[in-house]
Amino acid sequence: MNLTDRPRRLRTDGIRSLVSETNLSATDLLAPVFVDATTDERVEIESMPGHERVPVSEAVARVQEVLDTGVEAVMLFGIPESKDERGTRAWAEDGVVQEATRRVTAATDAYVVTDVCLCEYTSHGHCGVVEDEAETDPTLTVKNDETLELLAKTAVSHARAGADMVAPSSMTDGMVGAIREALDADGHESVPVMSYAAKYESAFYGPFRDAADGAPAFGDRRHYQMDPANGREALREVRLDVEQGADVLMVKPALAYLDVVRAVREEFDHPVAAYNVSGEYAMIHAAAEKGWLDLEATAFESLLAMKRAGADLILTYFAEDVAAAL
Ligand code: PBG
Repeated sequence: MNLTDRPRRLRTDGIRSLVSETNLSATDLLAPVFVDATTDERVEIESMPGHERVPVSEAVARVQEVLDTGVEAVMLFGIPESKDERGTRAWAEDGVVQEATRRVTAATDAYVVTDVCLCEYTSHGHCGVVEDEAETDPTLTVKNDETLELLAKTAVSHARAGADMVAPSSMTDGMVGAIREALDADGHESVPVMSYAAKYESAFYGPFRDAADGAPAFGDRRHYQMDPANGREALREVRLDVEQGADVLMVKPALAYLDVVRAVREEFDHPVAAYNVSGEYAMIHAAAEKGWLDLEATAFESLLAMKRAGADLILTYFAEDVAAAL
């Protein structure tokens, strides 16, 4: 054969890593941590093997475990002691995330990002204030502008507790601007906002909703999260967040939306985050448990694909396992 171009020449062990286009490192990863005010002990999350809800008293120990693997950042999610219509525990000074943030930032070097949303805090499980008849009328939904004020208060309370970065995830129109303005007015102009800018109404969030006890009691999130059919709309969503001052742009979920990650990467110069969500984690675990997939190799390949698509940072439940293996 007279082949001049033989790509296989560069696939030998000696040169593979020299010519690899993409690298995954522990410092690209952010580990989600669940802090639960309803428990005094660590509780395993059944649908997310290896993950737990931990009480505030264990938050520092839990984050230290993450740091020991080489991962330097965590995303804190809170499960409050009580819920109500407006989600008032979300912005309480002595709330679960606020308390955990205070402890973790005082005792560790972790970079602490907090999830800013109301769905874990509202009795109905929606990501904001719902319209009066929403329970019986499926065309009704979250009141957008009234919710903004509550999100802004929540973000400020996190920053006051010492959060290094806040990450609004409610897909409320105007949320980044409202939060940016409130943070600045309270003296937190250096706290960046990582927006869940293109967040889809996805079936892949199932295990998380068990983990954080945030499933909607009625209806679904179609009226505020994005339609999985839409790719161009993601750019419109992201553009709005950029105009409102977002510092990091997140696409969520990751694996089924790598085209969106790539499109955002090409269109904007901001750092792009991909959220490798709970369902993506759970399905690999389930298949590995059956012996059908190699857990570590599949996880690693998934995360590498997100980086190849253009993600700079990845939120993933695999963070500790992959970092430890690297
Ligand atoms: C809160 C929030 C959710 C996730 C992150 N923040 C749940 C949802 O929108 O239903 C999902 C994360 C995951 O599945 O890993 N709004």
